[in-house]
Amino acid sequence: MNRILTKSTSRLSRRVALFLLTPLFLFLTRKAHGQEEPQTPEGEWIKINSRVSLVHLGSIDSFDKTAAGIAAAKLMLDALENNNLKSAKEAVLTYEKIIPNENFGGEYTALQWFGEYLLASPQQQQQFLKEPLVLEFFNFFADNDFANLKEYLKRKYEIEELEDDGSEEATERERFLEDFILFNNPRREEWEQTSKMLDSLNVQPGYNVADIGCGPGYYTFKFSKLVGSQGKVLAVDTVENHLNYVKNISEKYGVNNIELVNNTTDNAKLPPQQMDLIYMCSLYHIIYSTSLEPVKDRFVESIKQALKKEGRLIVVDNGVVEDQTLPYHGPYIAKELIINQLKYYGFRLIDQYGFIPQRYVLVFQVG
Ligand SMILES: C[S@@+](CC[C@H](N)C(=O)[O-])C[C@H]1O[C@@H](n2cnc3c(N)ncnc32)[C@H](O)[C@@H]1O
Repeated sequence: MNRILTKSTSRLSRRVALFLLTPLFLFLTRKAHGQEEPQTPEGEWIKINSRVSLVHLGSIDSFDKTAAGIAAAKLMLDALENNNLKSAKEAVLTYEKIIPNENFGGEYTALQWFGEYLLASPQQQQQFLKEPLVLEFFNFFADNDFANLKEYLKRKYEIEELEDDGSEEATERERFLEDFILFNNPRREEWEQTSKMLDSLNVQPGYNVADIGCGPGYYTFKFSKLVGSQGKVLAVDTVENHLNYVKNISEKYGVNNIELVNNTTDNAKLPPQQMDLIYMCSLYHIIYSTSLEPVKDRFVESIKQALKKEGRLIVVDNGVVEDQTLPYHGPYIAKELIINQLKYYGFRLIDQYGFIPQRYVLVFQVG
């Protein structure tokens, strides 16, 4: 694999841009497996000098910190620390302005949501929190006088030095808070069109679904409702903190069709031939770019053997968006890379959808 790795470090976080030269990579992978070059039809190969052959991984800082973003974060912190509604209002207006230009689909929309909550009347605030999972999201950040939200703003935007700054624990903590605010963002439906994505999958009551890389359960709980009491959802993640959160919420709300799986990077740890649907949202770019080939081989094999005969593997990820056309700063990977790699692993693309410009939904079956 020919890989150019660019790494720059900041105080709390590292940004990684990883560029993979795909055709050569596929060629070498197959050589390593003693296989001939595959007979793929014209057009499926991606030129090395194509922009489509790039993978961008923002592993910890999944979006840029800009002057306006930092200013808005400072206003939010002031609003929380000094009960300053004027600052909350300014923060909301700042996010209004910068979201379309700087960060579509990131945590700005969640921070704006908090700002709007602070400005709302008590009745309106009740409306903000009417969904149980939104209420839990809110409580997570708002308990103890907004301790977690303040901590997040300080860490992420480097507004204030914290005691553990520079330690591994600090990096882990920042990553956890950031994952949480990004994935369980109450405004996610609006930017991602989550419901349309789920509708397209036609999940049936009684299904067994594995949500691999479930994070703090945004999709897990949606699948749980769709499959009902006859079905089962396996919430699979390598990060225990995420699974603990899913476990606590499940227990609190008496949800009993979710099982937790703390897997490893080389094994999804799923039971054989039992899954109707295996779902991976914003995970394949990580596997594609960061797993060594033998690890990836074992991981994908563990997914493959878990599917029922007609079972489907769903891969949702972010495509390459042209600079200046959409302010999306998350990690991205061209869908062609995933389609071709999964073809190599024995999966066939049977459908694909897109509901917003940067996100694609790929549907595969084995064979
Ligand atoms: C970008 S997040 C997406 C979370 C969730 N799917 C969502 O869309 O809200 C990726 C998640 O995958 C998890 N992860 C990374 N590598 C993994 C692996 N090999 N197996 C399972 N989970 C993994 C991370 O801990 C993280 O929770």
